[in-house]
Amino acid sequence: MRRVPFLAGNWKMHKGPKETKEFIVELFAAIAKDTSLKGFLKENKVELGIFPPFVSLETAGREVASADISLSLGAQNMHWEDSGAFTGEIAGKMLMEVGCKYVILGHSERRHIFGESDETIGKKMNKALEIGLKPVLCVGETLEERDEGITETVVKRQLEEALRSLREHENIKDNIVIAYEPVWAIGTGRKASDEDAQSVCAYIRKFIEERFGSTAAEGIRILYGGSVKPDNAKGLMEQKDIDGALIGGASLDVGSFLEISRNTI
Ligand code: G3H
Repeated sequence: MRRVPFLAGNWKMHKGPKETKEFIVELFAAIAKDTSLKGFLKENKVELGIFPPFVSLETAGREVASADISLSLGAQNMHWEDSGAFTGEIAGKMLMEVGCKYVILGHSERRHIFGESDETIGKKMNKALEIGLKPVLCVGETLEERDEGITETVVKRQLEEALRSLREHENIKDNIVIAYEPVWAIGTGRKASDEDAQSVCAYIRKFIEERFGSTAAEGIRILYGGSVKPDNAKGLMEQKDIDGALIGGASLDVGSFLEISRNTI
């Protein structure tokens, strides 16, 4: 069984509600003219998703809900409690209320700029799964860790901590997406080689098999993220254990986002 490829655009701190609406209108118009991509989306043979900033999610949710083209919506972060005195934070249930299906957790910018720990990421994972929001869990090593040759050790620790309280019988293959994002490749124009990305994604799949069994490992989608562009996406997508991409900069433009998507189908 072929896993459904997922092209997820993480917009980071770009596009308020107005630009978000313009993007979605332009995206749907372009897809409507592309019979091949439209057909793939209709038959659920590929999934496209966008992850706008919090303030743009409601606008995006409305546009997505009223369209006949499928586009998944996700947020870039959430808190692990349902409500409370947490100034500046957003609860997962609030994200679901505006139409989010996914939430990115543990992105390296959250870990490294905002000091998120493996422990808080684990708490967020548990809450997201409890309420039915699907986490896109990001893992990946820094350049120093790569140079030290400890990529797998770092990725293993991040996976262990984030998935610690999940049990084997939980349906992680349909409810979790994992994104391997080497920190040194994010926003640098320096994508990991197809072979290196494949090797770490294969390691992640092996970890899932040992921890959750072969059904989970065969079904879970593992994305690569880090300087994915239209001209380097195809080789990545041909790798056995890579099921799509978490795209930053190149997802902000309808043309390049769609070109990456076309290179995947
Ligand atoms: O979440 C996306 C990644 O951080 C990749 O960003 O494609 O701009 O390198 P990038």
